Amino acid sequence: MQEDTTPGGALDRVLTVEVMRVTERAAVAAARLRGRGDERAADQAAVDAMRRELNRLRIEGIVVIGEGERDEAPMLYIGEAVGTGGQRVDIALDPLEGTTLCAKDMPNSLATLALASGGALLNAPDVYMEKIAIGPGYPDGVVDLDMPAAEAIRRLAEAKGVSAGEITACVLDRPRHAELIKAIRETGAAIRLIGDGDVAGVIHTTDPIETGIDIYIGTGGAPEGVLAAAALRCIGGQMQGRLILKTDEHKARAERMGITDFDKIYTHEEMASGDVYFSATGVTDGNLLQGVRFYPGYITTETIVMRSLHGTVRTIKARHTNFDKFNLS
Ligand code: FBP
Repeated sequence: MQEDTTPGGALDRVLTVEVMRVTERAAVAAARLRGRGDERAADQAAVDAMRRELNRLRIEGIVVIGEGERDEAPMLYIGEAVGTGGQRVDIALDPLEGTTLCAKDMPNSLATLALASGGALLNAPDVYMEKIAIGPGYPDGVVDLDMPAAEAIRRLAEAKGVSAGEITACVLDRPRHAELIKAIRETGAAIRLIGDGDVAGVIHTTDPIETGIDIYIGTGGAPEGVLAAAALRCIGGQMQGRLILKTDEHKARAERMGITDFDKIYTHEEMASGDVYFSATGVTDGNLLQGVRFYPGYITTETIVMRSLHGTVRTIKARHTNFDKFNLS
């Protein structure tokens, strides 16, 4: 038998299918409430479906990135144990990433899940994180978080062999990014402003031909940062993140999760190490994934599911005719 040299141990490869099932179920549940203007209901439907499915898996899973800390989230809270028993795994999840996108039926909302060997995912509090990410094929360190955004754009353009004007950056459309947006535009680069959903924003950098996005820059949720890092571990690319711990309360929460260096810049390998699986199913249509489609007699889903160990990335379009499994009522 081949020696297992993966830090934390290699995971069972059957999990490729299992993680995909989990995000498919959550995506279908949320998609039923697409465009209804009710973010809370869509999120709850996705959470219920994801939890139900996770609890069927033969794993001893611990949610390390979840719906919130134990006192604020009744389900899929940080520290919740899921599964029927088996291999010990860490789980990062966002059953509905881009709740507002789903409620408004706008592009790129996803059901997402990452699963890794125990202890391999950064336990991050639900605070903001500064992020920078690019896709595969560039030299290490071509961009980093401490560099002014304009320099990052110029260096990326040089590495790509194009002018800055041919680079497109993805940035969350938020007042806090006004200076960042100005600095990027001054280089001549274009900006794809997104209303929400920076897990998708980061993943989109890995396929600039398809998505038109070369780099993701800006501040978003730390949990979403860990999920995006897990995806890049599998698909390739570079990402850095730094937690924004402004208040004593933020710092105390971080400390409870084992974080002592409050200014640390984490690479994606540090946020998601070991053997990592990542799965995302489209809820609404997006740049890389089609959203859930409901037809008379069947439902279709499209999922990207990947594993870091061998770098396999699968896009799976599924047709579901057995509606019982979705608990639709
Ligand atoms: P939700 O799915 O929880 O609504 O998060 C959407 C999102 O846009 C994330 O993708 C992003 O990281 C975060 O919110 C940004 O936070 P804020 O809306 O506070 O700027």
